[in-house]
Amino acid sequence: MFSWARRGVPGSMAALLATVMAAVAAEPGHFGYGTVPTPQQIAGWDIDARGDDGVGLPPGSGDVSKGEAVFAEQCAACHGTFGEGEGRFPKLAGGIGTLKDDRPELTVGSYWPFAPTLWDYINRAMPMPAPHTLSADDVYALTAYILSLNNIVPNDFVADRNSLARIKMPNRDNFLWTDPRPDTAAKPCMSACADPGAVKITSTAEGKDLTPRTTGPLDDMRAK
Ligand code: HEC
Repeated sequence: MFSWARRGVPGSMAALLATVMAAVAAEPGHFGYGTVPTPQQIAGWDIDARGDDGVGLPPGSGDVSKGEAVFAEQCAACHGTFGEGEGRFPKLAGGIGTLKDDRPELTVGSYWPFAPTLWDYINRAMPMPAPHTLSADDVYALTAYILSLNNIVPNDFVADRNSLARIKMPNRDNFLWTDPRPDTAAKPCMSACADPGAVKITSTAEGKDLTPRTTGPLDDMRAK
């Protein structure tokens, strides 16, 4: 029979364990701590917007000129009035076509594959000193403004959940890359795969003294 005593657990501890286990067993499937999150709490965490099709973007909209105003107030101090970047803060515009240069310029316009991701990033992370303070409409407007700074949309563009998903970002196609290594592209074989005779083991590491000799607990254990 299973015995805590035989495993070196003292009697008093075994008794305590038995009590705890009995208490847990009394409430199947519930450990007695935590609470079920409310739909509102879940909604607070469930904020992601998917890049390629914009699933998860909320209702709302915003245009370039409103974005320009919000940007001037909340973003330009770090990113520059036209997204040119102040000091060492990131540039948000320009650099399109420079990715193969010696000094590629990575910006939202030159590098990012999806417009909904711009909405998602601003919504979760910006403005840096006070994330999660912008309304959905303001984030749409800022997204429209940054896209217009990169000449990806016209000045009368209105960003919303549908229009963002339809934009094709300049660097989009360079993310459509298939790993050419045979072991990743190969289809897994499910039956009659390897010819057992085809694989011959010609050498092994055994006995070649490849592992440096050590002294210490491992050797002590081996000695026993
Ligand atoms: C206090 C300075 C500051 C302010 C204000 C600020 N940002 Fe940023 N922003 C940053 C920094 C720093 C990063 C880079 C963060 C990182 O890489 O982890 C960044 C990154 C970004 C990026 C991603 C750039 C990239 O190519 O990776 C976007 C987009 C952006 N900010 C938009 C905004 C918008 C929109 C606002 C205004 C609502 C804003 N930021 C306000 C400092 C700021």
